[in-house]
Amino acid sequence: MPATVVIGGQWGDEGKGRVVDFFARNCTMIARYSAGSNAGHTIVNGLGRFALHLVPAGIFYADKTCIMGNGMVIAPQGLIDEISMLESRGVDMSRLKISDRAQLVMPWHPVIDRLDEAMRGENAIGTTGTGTGPAFIDKAARLGFRMIDLVSPDPFESDEFDRKLKWVLDYKNLVITQLYDGEPLAFEAIRDQFHYYSDRLRQYITDTSILVQDAHERGEQILLEGAQGALLDLDSGTYPYVTSSSPASVAAGACIGVGIGPTAIRRVVGVYKAYQTRVGNGPMPTELFDQDGSALREHGVDRGAGEYGATTGRPRRTGWFDGVLARSTARQNGVTSVALTRLDVLSQFKSIKVCVAYELNGQRIDALPASLHGMQSVQPIYEELPGWGDEVTEARSMSDLPQRAREYVRRIEQLIGAPIDMISVGPEREQAIVTRDIFGQALG
Ligand code: IMP
Repeated sequence: MPATVVIGGQWGDEGKGRVVDFFARNCTMIARYSAGSNAGHTIVNGLGRFALHLVPAGIFYADKTCIMGNGMVIAPQGLIDEISMLESRGVDMSRLKISDRAQLVMPWHPVIDRLDEAMRGENAIGTTGTGTGPAFIDKAARLGFRMIDLVSPDPFESDEFDRKLKWVLDYKNLVITQLYDGEPLAFEAIRDQFHYYSDRLRQYITDTSILVQDAHERGEQILLEGAQGALLDLDSGTYPYVTSSSPASVAAGACIGVGIGPTAIRRVVGVYKAYQTRVGNGPMPTELFDQDGSALREHGVDRGAGEYGATTGRPRRTGWFDGVLARSTARQNGVTSVALTRLDVLSQFKSIKVCVAYELNGQRIDALPASLHGMQSVQPIYEELPGWGDEVTEARSMSDLPQRAREYVRRIEQLIGAPIDMISVGPEREQAIVTRDIFGQALG
């Protein structure tokens, strides 16, 4: 059976967790393939409201295997806290499997993340400060610790772990003290911490690529869960204001991040918010600094649904839907199906703008330039569509939507260039319109 990838089509926070939660019911396995606790999913279901950073959103289905793939970087304490929180709220965690090749976020990573941002000054990326970037840098620098280092035959008995920790920590303390003028970290405390992590996480650590490959060969449906958004991808995003994952937020990264070949992937669901948000720094052509921007941010804030980062609590930057960027991410990721989220947030507007192209140096262009200066200089060309006035939170089919809301959806669909098969109209699981069952209907 072909695997299905779910990606974010913008700068993250599109509502992927909710879409994964929805599609997970059709699959036996849900595998997260990239990033670390910089990502955040909010999921609302019968058990309550959950903010997940590491554990795949499929964990709420009792019969699904949930994989944390080799493409992830995992902060062990954060993971243990998340597992304990889920256990305490009645979620069975025995179905969680962690790749033995996933990288560990080590104690120096968040320290370096923050010191590095401070050193960059006005050129700071606006990272989440979770150490994700430095963990990926160490992966590429071949200095990383992996999950296997916690369990390979008695790493603590054989002092294998201690020896590696010693030299890497010496190296990192030099960087912290000499480059950033920070405080060195102590060996003993880290060693003891990781001994505990080894005991606590050992039961979940395995070669997950074999599990995914076996499930694929048995013909099972597999859902590959992306993190962040395609515009934060290291290669195709708004560089340098991107995240550091190598198999990052794009569909192609799913293969690397769980250990399967590209021929296994048949469907790519692109999740797009009905408007635009971004956290952190970097270009955002349709950003709003006026009342409309605040209205987008504050909608639903009293219910915890406002535009504030799930990981850092930072207010998100807001703007009108950017059709240029959406089309570009849909094409780069081979999106076959779109989930449009948060349509209900737009009900408050009398008229709604949509960016259909940019102007740069007096020329109309329909792609974002590569240079930072170019990205910062483009002026959005807008189309203005009438608002619909009525609430849409009770709509469960397209015909329940006001005519103008349907027109907005159709225009977004044209701009993205892929069919919108699901629309969310509120945070609850059932507050959705599904126009095509992508699992029931074979794709071309
Ligand atoms: P880092 O991933 O913490 O290094 O941050 C790099 C950039 O990606 C910053 O602009 C972050 O705000 C952004 N970012 C990282 N993870 C997420 C996410 O899950 N949602 C939205 N933005 C994110």
